[in-house]
Amino acid sequence: MKQPLTVLKGCFFCLNFLWIHRLVTAIDVTENQSAQRYLQGLPIGSGSNADRLQQMLKGVGAPINWPQPAKPEITDVKTELAKLNTTYVYQNEWPANNVRLGAVTAVSFDKAGNVVIFHRVNRIWSQRTFNNENVYQEKNRGPIRESTVLGLEPDTGKVLYDWGKNMFYMPHGLHIDPEDNVWLTDVALHQVFKFPPRGAGGRPLLTLGTAFHPGNGIKKFCKPTAVAVLNNGDFFVADGYCNARIVKYSKQGEQILVWGENSFSGFSYDVAPPNFFAIPHALTLVPELELLCAADRENGRVQCFHSINGTFHSQYHNPVIGDRLFSMAYTPAAGGELVIVNGPSAEVGAQQQHYNEVHGFVLSMRTRQLVSKFGPNNLQFENPHDVAVTADGNAIYVAELSPTRIHKFLHKSVAKPMSLSAVKSLSSSNEVAAAAPASSGSGAETAAAHHPSGKAILVASLMLVFAGSTLALALMMARRRKRGCLPFGTHNRRHAWEKTEGFKLGGLLDRNGFEKLDQNASDEEHEQQTTSISQYA
Ligand SMILES: *[C@@H]1O[C@H](CO)[C@@H](O)[C@H](O)[C@H]1NC(C)=O
Ligand SMILES: *[C@@H]1O[C@H](CO)[C@@H](O)[C@H](O)[C@H]1NC(C)=O
Ligand SMILES: *[C@@H]1O[C@H](CO)[C@@H](O)[C@H](O)[C@H]1NC(C)=O
Repeated sequence: MKQPLTVLKGCFFCLNFLWIHRLVTAIDVTENQSAQRYLQGLPIGSGSNADRLQQMLKGVGAPINWPQPAKPEITDVKTELAKLNTTYVYQNEWPANNVRLGAVTAVSFDKAGNVVIFHRVNRIWSQRTFNNENVYQEKNRGPIRESTVLGLEPDTGKVLYDWGKNMFYMPHGLHIDPEDNVWLTDVALHQVFKFPPRGAGGRPLLTLGTAFHPGNGIKKFCKPTAVAVLNNGDFFVADGYCNARIVKYSKQGEQILVWGENSFSGFSYDVAPPNFFAIPHALTLVPELELLCAADRENGRVQCFHSINGTFHSQYHNPVIGDRLFSMAYTPAAGGELVIVNGPSAEVGAQQQHYNEVHGFVLSMRTRQLVSKFGPNNLQFENPHDVAVTADGNAIYVAELSPTRIHKFLHKSVAKPMSLSAVKSLSSSNEVAAAAPASSGSGAETAAAHHPSGKAILVASLMLVFAGSTLALALMMARRRKRGCLPFGTHNRRHAWEKTEGFKLGGLLDRNGFEKLDQNASDEEHEQQTTSISQYA
C-alpha cells in the first residue's frame, strides 16, 4: 500500500479563490445545527464525549483555520432559480407498482438498463441509531427482513426482481459495475459488499470492513457511503460520514490509494480547500476525462479527482445549489453534464445568502454553469438522497428519503406531452397501482438517439396531442354529464397533488404495521424537516 496522497496544501490558496465563494457568517443557528450534525460525524478515538461536545459547542473542533476569501456578492438565488429552464418532465405515474418503499437511499442501473434501488424498508436513521462512537444501537432488531434491493422496469416501474432480505441494517449506497455486479454499503454494518448480478445466491463475492465495528484503518470503515467501479475492476469507496476519505482498491480488494481529510468543523459555511470533505456522500465516474467525482455533501460541492492517482482536478459549486449537495451522476450527453440533487438548507429561516430550494440541477462540466433545474410537481423535492441518469441523458431517476419515493424524469425531447399523462391519470383515478403509462417506447432503454429532434418528434407530438385532446374532450363531456362543470384543470391538479402528497410516510407506516416515524427524532439525513419548503414556494 502506498502512502496516503499528500493534500494539495501548497495550492489550495489559489484554487480556493477560483471557487465561487460563500459567506462565512457563523451565526448561532448554524452553530447549533452544525453541532448536531458533527456529533454523528466525529472522528473516532479523539477524547471523551464531554470534551467533544464542548469542542463542538465552542466550534473549536476545526483542526484548521483556512484562509477565507473576501465577501462575495450575495447571489439573488430566487432570481437565478427563476431564470433556469426546466428541461426534464416529471413522470408522475411512474412507478406503476404498489410496492411499499421505505426511505430510498440509492438508485442505479443494471446492465439491462433496469432501474435498481436500495431502500431501508422499515428502518429510520434517527438520533438514537448510533452512539457517539458511531456504533449502531439497534443490532438486536436483526437485519431488515424484507427485500432491500428492487429492480424496476424502466418504462413501467414494475418490479422485475427483488433481493437483499435478512442482510442489511441501514442501507446507504448502491452501484452496479460494468460486469453487472452489485455493490452496496451499509452504514450500520460499516461494510461494503460486492454481490453477483441480481444478488444471485445471496452471498457476497467480496466483503470489506468489519461488521458493526467502525474504524479507520485498512480493515475498517466508518459509515461508508458509496462505491464506484472502473472498467478495469479497480474501485473506490467513499468512507464516509466519519473518516471523510476516499479509498481506491485493486479489483482483488487491495488498497491502492487513500486520500481526503475531514473538514467537518462544526461550522457549515467555512470554505474548505480541495481534498477536504464534509461527508463524501456519493460517487460518479467521468470516463471521458478519467475522473472520479464525489458529492462533498456539507460543503455543497462536487469535487473531481484523477481516477488514476487521486489528485484533485476540479470542483463545482453554485450558490443556487446552496450549502448541501447530496448526490450527483455524470452523463456524457450534451458534452458532459452532472445531474445534481441538493438538500434542504441546514438553517431555519435561512438568511438570504444561505437561501436555497431543493431541486434537481443539470450542470455543464464544460462551461461550469447550471443548465437547467427539475423536480416533481412544483419542481421541489423534500429530501432527495441519490440520483441516476442514463448515458444518453434522456432519463433521470431520483431516490428520496422522505417522502419515501423513487422519481422518474424524461428529457422534454422524449417525454410524452403532459396533457396526455394528465388525462390518463384522470381516467384511472382510483387505480393508482394499476395505472401503467402508455408504452410510447420512449423509455431509457429504447431511446437510442440522444435528444432526438425534428420531424419524428413533431409527428409523434402531434399524434399524441390529437389523441390526448380527443380523449380529454370525451372525458370532459362524460364528466359534465355526471356531476356538473368542474373545471378540468383544477381537478387535474388536485389529482396530481393527491397522488404525491397523499403518499405520506406516516399513513403508510401505520397501515402496514411499520414503525411510526418519530417526528422529534432528527434523522441524520433529513434533519431539517422544520425548514418549511412551502414558505418559499
Ligand atoms: C442554540 O442552543 C442553545 C442551547 O441549547 C440555545 O439556548 C439557543 O437559543 C440556541 N440558539 C438558536 C439560535 O437556536
Ligand atoms: C431557456 O430556454 C430559452 C428558450 O429555449 C433559451 O433562449 C434560454 O437561453 C434558456 N435559458 C437558459 C438559462 O439556458
Ligand atoms: C495524476 O494524474 C494526472 C492524469 O494523468 C496527471 O495530470 C497528474 O499530474 C497526476 N498527479 C500526480 C501528483 O502524479
